[in-house]
Amino acid sequence: SGDARVAGIAASIRVIPDFPKPGIMFQDITTLLLDPNAFRDTIDLFVERYKDQGITVVAGVEARGFIFGPPIALAIGAKFVPLRKPKKLPGEVISEEYSLEYGTDKIEMHVGAVEASDRALVVDDLIATGGTLCAAVKLLERVGAKVVECACVIELPELKGRDKLGDRPVFVLVKAD
Ligand code: PRP
Repeated sequence: SGDARVAGIAASIRVIPDFPKPGIMFQDITTLLLDPNAFRDTIDLFVERYKDQGITVVAGVEARGFIFGPPIALAIGAKFVPLRKPKKLPGEVISEEYSLEYGTDKIEMHVGAVEASDRALVVDDLIATGGTLCAAVKLLERVGAKVVECACVIELPELKGRDKLGDRPVFVLVKAD
């Protein structure tokens, strides 16, 4: 069942206190990747949810959206588009800035990778403040694509990242506190 699989996935995620700085409880998905059953169940649960939704593009957010996004894209027959940190993509790009605790960051997408007729799923490992996913959604919407949903393995609900996404649905497998 879905719940038994989710329990296995949750158990496979390692939490590392005070990384990368004091007070942060880091949700480490590298231990999920070490467990082939948990990794397969993670992909399967997303594929079961999205296979019949007419999704034409899976957009993955650097870096860990590059791990979960491609197997989902292949299984549902969608193209994969990487959303990257600045100055990594060689072609013409559009960019979106978002704010961090101190300062700002930016993600970029290749022009021409996504079209107005596309139906998009945005994938990342984790939603914290929601700033990253919100910037990702804006990139896709700027070119006219419909963002069907955002999908993450883990949510930190206390940070209320969903609020930044407005009406766009966010689906997560595991809620951490
Ligand atoms: C982490 C995580 C998400 C983002 C979520 O990435 O993988 O992409 O933060 O945080 P937010 O909801 O507050 O925006 P990170 O910034 O560590 O980048 P990396 O994956 O390239 O290491």
